[in-house]
Amino acid sequence: MALFSKSKNDKAWQAGNSLPKHVAIIMDGNGRWAKKRGLPRTAGHSAGAETFRKIATYCKDLGMDYLTVYAFSTENWKRPQEEVDAIMQLLEKYLLESIEKMERDGIRLKILGDTEPLSDKLKALIERTDKISSEINGFQANICLNYGGRDEIIKAARKYAQQVAEGRANDIDEKEFSSYMYSDGIPDPDLIIRPSGEIRTSNFLLWQSAYSEYYFTDVLWPDFDEAELDKALDAYSKRSRRYGGV
Ligand code: IPE
Ligand code: IPE
Ligand code: MG
Repeated sequence: MALFSKSKNDKAWQAGNSLPKHVAIIMDGNGRWAKKRGLPRTAGHSAGAETFRKIATYCKDLGMDYLTVYAFSTENWKRPQEEVDAIMQLLEKYLLESIEKMERDGIRLKILGDTEPLSDKLKALIERTDKISSEINGFQANICLNYGGRDEIIKAARKYAQQVAEGRANDIDEKEFSSYMYSDGIPDPDLIIRPSGEIRTSNFLLWQSAYSEYYFTDVLWPDFDEAELDKALDAYSKRSRRYGGV
């Protein structure tokens, strides 16, 4: 029917029920973005942090519940110390700035990952953001920091082993095992986006992605914008999620 015919730019997913509740993004391509401009890789990370701010606000405005981003993996410590230090400093700066704005913007922040090896300063900032987040409601942005899917599963397996020792081996189902993950209480991502042209997960949300839809694009993360997210949401809205059914 003509009335309902959709032009390419109609954001059908916005009005319908096909807007994902939870989008996850592997924020990749910062280094290549900088290199293309003759800038140091760290300039790419700064630009990438700005993109995160912009996209988080957009996701919130669209009415999503969760955005989860991959900011630093358990494997990223292999990078030159100078780059690791710059990323950690950027995270400190970002969290410090966010603490002031979280309440006003209504964005809850949660860090997912092994925080143990992080600096005392970062740990203290994470504690503060957790406290503020517990006092506000609404949209939540999860930042995966020193996060690895395998690391998370191993830690969950250790908790499982404790339960086995207590004689509960056969009681533990998928739901309880999920609660051993960093993502406890957060629904699995509906859509996982990877920019930068790489077609791999790089250890991101291995347990949680069992039935996630994937969307890959060549755009480098610092160039990713609202229109790019719209394209991913549009593609998602056309997928048929069957979860093994018919
Ligand atoms: C993603 O961008 C940021 C981190 C992994 C910390 P990269 O730094 O991996 O950028 P490329 O892949 O080298 O372009
Ligand atoms: C994945 O990107 C990790 C983050 C974006 C934080 P990488 O750049 O580390 O992944 P690989 O090395 O290309 O697989
Ligand atoms: Mg990369």
